[in-house]
Amino acid sequence: MKGKLICIEGIDGSGKTTQVNLLAKALHDRGYDVIILREPTDGVYGRKIRKMIEEGKTDPEELFELFLKDRKENIEKNILPALKNGKIVIMDRYYISTLVYQSEVGIERILEAHEKISAPKPDLVIILDIPVDEALRRLKVKSCDSFERREILEKHRKQYEKIAKYLREKEKMNVVIIDATGSEEEVHKKVLREVLEVIKN
Ligand code: TYD
Repeated sequence: MKGKLICIEGIDGSGKTTQVNLLAKALHDRGYDVIILREPTDGVYGRKIRKMIEEGKTDPEELFELFLKDRKENIEKNILPALKNGKIVIMDRYYISTLVYQSEVGIERILEAHEKISAPKPDLVIILDIPVDEALRRLKVKSCDSFERREILEKHRKQYEKIAKYLREKEKMNVVIIDATGSEEEVHKKVLREVLEVIKN
């Protein structure tokens, strides 16, 4: 495998998509061959997932099965071919999101299922970390709707921290948590520094 697999993760409102785009541009400007891929995808399963989420359906088992199918397709059609072609694949969410958002399924079971579908291991996972108050501000959540939202965001933020520790210790994965409270440019600089270190090696 010649390319590199870089995953950008974080709670809703952490600025993933902005940072993914800034990173892709910076790498492209440095002459790297870059592709951005997002999950859920725009494929059949990805569209089904988005519809479920919009309708407020959150059954972890059902979502887990769908995310796995969506991801398998993404791996076979997009991720592996791009890596084989030596590209830098930047993922806006990958199976780390499943470990956080569908945590009820269990870490071991989720990782085993991904091994079975031969999901390539990321070369680097960057978790953009922001306090929940800041995420709520960025998501423009009205204070009357914020109670439940806050609890969910708190849960996801804690789970990201736990998963980061687990993946580092048990899977020997390169996982970096970046403070994403600064300006877009400040955060971008930190992200780029981490990524360049990995792709230069
Ligand atoms: P999306 O519209 O892409 O939101 P965002 O910009 O925050 O990424 O929807 C993605 C939603 O799907 C997000 O709330 C997290 C959720 N998700 C999971 O629950 N499990 C997963 O494995 C993935 C990849 C995403």
